[in-house]
Amino acid sequence: MSTRIAVLASGRGSNLEALASHVERRAAGMATVVLAASDRADAGALDVARAHGIAAAALDMGPDHARALGALLATHRIDLVVLAGYLRLVPPDVVRAWRGRIVNVHPALLPAFGGPGMYGARVHRAVLAAGARVSGVTVHFVDEVYDRGATIAQWPVPVRDDDTPAALAARVLRVEHLLLPRAVLALARGDVRLADDGRALWMPRATTATAAFLLRDTDDDDLARSIDAALGA
Ligand code: GRF
Repeated sequence: MSTRIAVLASGRGSNLEALASHVERRAAGMATVVLAASDRADAGALDVARAHGIAAAALDMGPDHARALGALLATHRIDLVVLAGYLRLVPPDVVRAWRGRIVNVHPALLPAFGGPGMYGARVHRAVLAAGARVSGVTVHFVDEVYDRGATIAQWPVPVRDDDTPAALAARVLRVEHLLLPRAVLALARGDVRLADDGRALWMPRATTATAAFLLRDTDDDDLARSIDAALGA
């Protein structure tokens, strides 16, 4: 039974494009993006959906929003909801009904540089203002509070001395396009799930949710050589 995926997006939809293309290429028969919905009827993401033959819907953002969103997801028999640049808070009723089956991608290493108002260029400006040397991407379960749900996967992205917010955003976005689809398929395969204690639980058979190269058994000499190379002996 193919996992039916819905994507909620507010913007141009590059993450939707990456997810739809990856699923078509690598998960035919196992997962399908069947719906894209946006709080903005003119969102580029809806054009991306149409180009992929995916149903595209403008969300009713009125007082009946929560019921309308729940009904839309039910009508399309959705199994997994992906927020890909969705700038609105998902109504608590929907989060509760979809707990463990709704995920978000954030362009920083949560819990740092996250929370209400932290989206788009604001995230990268804050990372640069803080002098962080590493930023990254987080894919996490969605709960009632912005960017607080259990982390499913993260991947580091280097910050360069001459970075502008736009340059950092582009480097981070490239990793989003790679990490989000793979994390979504891991969920569709059942390789990771939301455990009763609220944490993301990876099945032993799966790789870990941490950047594998960071976990390679590096002995102290190797590690010292890497740090020497980075910081100068
Ligand atoms: C991405 O940077 C994502 O991390 C953030 O919003 C942006 C969406 O971009 N939540 P796009 O619409 O997928 O191109």
